[in-house]
Amino acid sequence: MRVFELEFPNPVLLASGVLGISSYLFKRIEKLGAGGIVTKSIGISPKKGYENPTIVELDYGFLNAMGLPNPGVDYFLEEIKDLSLKIPFIVSIFGKDSEEFVKIAKKLENYCDALELNLSCPHAESYGMAIGQDEKIVYKITKDVKKSVEIPVIVKLTPNVNDIVRIARSAENGGADGITAINTLKALAIDIDMEKPILKNVYGGLSGRCIKPVALRCVYDIYKNVKIPVIGVGGIASPEDAIEFIMCGASLVGIGSAARDLNVFKDISEGVENFLKKKKYTLKEIIGKATKNI
Ligand code: FUM
Repeated sequence: MRVFELEFPNPVLLASGVLGISSYLFKRIEKLGAGGIVTKSIGISPKKGYENPTIVELDYGFLNAMGLPNPGVDYFLEEIKDLSLKIPFIVSIFGKDSEEFVKIAKKLENYCDALELNLSCPHAESYGMAIGQDEKIVYKITKDVKKSVEIPVIVKLTPNVNDIVRIARSAENGGADGITAINTLKALAIDIDMEKPILKNVYGGLSGRCIKPVALRCVYDIYKNVKIPVIGVGGIASPEDAIEFIMCGASLVGIGSAARDLNVFKDISEGVENFLKKKKYTLKEIIGKATKNI
């Protein structure tokens, strides 16, 4: 399956932010049947992240606020410089402004197949959602990064906005090759014995099955209004979930919370393939199908 001019053996990717950043792990994810890898977000310099607790398991999903911990782009380059994968390797990056994004993008350009701009972390102060909610900034960062590198640039959007289509259009107008929708929803949880928020950072990002309907709505709306391909992310844990996203317009899907079970890539991609065989469809034929059958 060809998307962003890259060949994906199947449409089921590891979503950003879930597992670590070691080359060993990336090779393992490839062996386990992922169609592509999106790394944890990498910044210009090392970042420790927030203090614990950084993650809470809820009955219906996860709430996390890690604080974008990462070793910085130079260390990350050392880690991946000899990495060789047969599946597309997409590096997620974050920065505080377009200059920082461009610097990181240029350093990584020759070591990955595409970049995903994280403009959507729901609780990082001057990064993430704070910039991803402003369509002018989204346009500028996308345009500046696009101008400075030759590889595809994908923009990951936040659902924490009034109108996600407007932001998706800004990314498209800035030259983005694709959109990833969605990052987590800003949320919190309370410990009633301690009588305070559970997360050290108070606010976190809600992920897992409970956000699937929100993510589907975003993918559906974006697909109907932009021309570039969409990677659907948000609560996907089964082949049926993935098919729902594809029928809403996703060309590829990303697995986040459900990647705690590393068999998930194979299970979902085989399930999607079986569905297509049974219905006598190609994958391409069902992309966006549900948006047309109204
Ligand atoms: O806390 C975190 O590192 C989350 C990042 C994100 O949602 O993009």
